[in-house]
Amino acid sequence: MQHEIVGKNPATKETLGDRAARDPAVARVFARFGIDYCCRGWQRLDEVCQKLGIAAEDVEQAIQQEIARHPSEKKIGWDQLSLRDLVHHVLSIYHEPLRPEMERLQGLAEKVSRVHRSKEPEMLPALEEAVHDLREDLLYHMQKEEIVLFPLIVEQRGPLLTGPMAVMHHEHETTGTLLSRIRELTGQFQPPEAACNSWRALYSGLEALEFSIMQHINFEEHILFPRGLQYSQGTEL
Ligand SMILES: [Fe+2]
Ligand SMILES: [Fe+2]
Repeated sequence: MQHEIVGKNPATKETLGDRAARDPAVARVFARFGIDYCCRGWQRLDEVCQKLGIAAEDVEQAIQQEIARHPSEKKIGWDQLSLRDLVHHVLSIYHEPLRPEMERLQGLAEKVSRVHRSKEPEMLPALEEAVHDLREDLLYHMQKEEIVLFPLIVEQRGPLLTGPMAVMHHEHETTGTLLSRIRELTGQFQPPEAACNSWRALYSGLEALEFSIMQHINFEEHILFPRGLQYSQGTEL
């Protein structure tokens, strides 16, 4: 991805997606401030902060504090890895754990909706349906990446990637919309005071899931896909 050149601070020249993909501390702070760095990761921090009504300086300060809290955590040198290694990273860190976790959360959503429906007769069935929709969406999406797109990336078929990547990009936006729906239904993942342990476990699991999916999409959109497009049959284009 091309970085736009603006401002004097090098950090402000980069898109949200690029910054979050290279530095885990940045991704955590963006998530804490509710800054979307995956589906809208092509924006810059100052633009987004203006829209959200928060000060970019506060976000930058929080990033520095987060980096200081994790001194041994390194920025990630994705440029050093091969396309095969990058694909392996997506499969092992995101795709494989996501399938059982989505099944677990769907089961939990069904249970909480069944047991506590009288307390939230509209929200809990809607949440159950949203979690179901997210699972269906992700299973289908990951299958397409694994069968169609990722083999093309590993085979370095750069020019053939444009169409499938456009489809995946569109699907990432759909996933982002589903995640927003879940965040909205759960009131930013805040369980009611009287919520039982299952209800609380559902909300904390969904919040962790949202963070993981955002990192997953961010990595594909800002690291894997741009790298894949650079190569054709072993040659950098
Ligand atoms: Fe994926
Ligand atoms: Fe994807």
